[in-house]
Amino acid sequence: MTSLDFYSKIEPIIGMQEACDELYEIFLDEIYKLEFMGNDALDFGSGSGNFALKLKKDFNVICIDKSSEMVKVASSKGLDARNTSLNEVNETFDLITASFDVINYMDKKELKEFLKIISEKLNDGGYFVFDINTKFGFTDVADGLLYESDDKGNELIIDANFDNNILETTMIYFEKNGEIYKKFQQKITQYYHSEDEIKKYLSLKLLNLVDVNLYSDTKPDKKLFVFTK
Ligand SMILES: C[S@@+](CC[C@H](N)C(=O)[O-])C[C@H]1O[C@@H](n2cnc3c(N)ncnc32)[C@H](O)[C@@H]1O
Repeated sequence: MTSLDFYSKIEPIIGMQEACDELYEIFLDEIYKLEFMGNDALDFGSGSGNFALKLKKDFNVICIDKSSEMVKVASSKGLDARNTSLNEVNETFDLITASFDVINYMDKKELKEFLKIISEKLNDGGYFVFDINTKFGFTDVADGLLYESDDKGNELIIDANFDNNILETTMIYFEKNGEIYKKFQQKITQYYHSEDEIKKYLSLKLLNLVDVNLYSDTKPDKKLFVFTK
């Protein structure tokens, strides 16, 4: 089973779409406060393209994702989606976005290289807007065991362990078919990066830093950064 099929199975149980929509609104609020010199945008780590589709209303958007499966879905929605590295893209951009944990999928080495190339791909006066998970988001929101089921008897276990600034998440889905269950499994690794590391690696000017409470009312579980060149 592809990871895309897996997510489409678990989405109704964990309601990921609602969290995505809430985060997209926060991104769009920040983006529409900015003044643009042009309208060329890159959505990096675009997944199935849902955020890029929102940008497409006002920008010429290119999507990049390392998953060819995600790129196929984004392309089927009419997006210019590419399964390539940022280095290989010839265009430069007025806006670059990376929404919903994309940065946390990178380890330190990959992040450093990525942030260096971002500065090169951004036009002067352009903006780079992205989110990262906070330490609280990892330790108090993501870490731990979650069990959910639906009224059809399908069951989902999410087992997430945050250790040494790395979150390892195993998701096991049991699909009920009569008395028989079929088991599907996915693993994700995410890396914590501090605000200071981001500021140190990125040679752009920080314009705005927004606290995001997507899953918690007490402390921000994400931060959204707006940088400009
Ligand atoms: C949680 S999804 C977010 C998708 C989308 N941005 C959204 O808001 O729905 C993270 C995406 O980042 C992509 N990704 C992670 N690391 C990447 C990399 N180094 N290059 C390109 N895509 C990457 C993954 O394949 C995945 O589609």
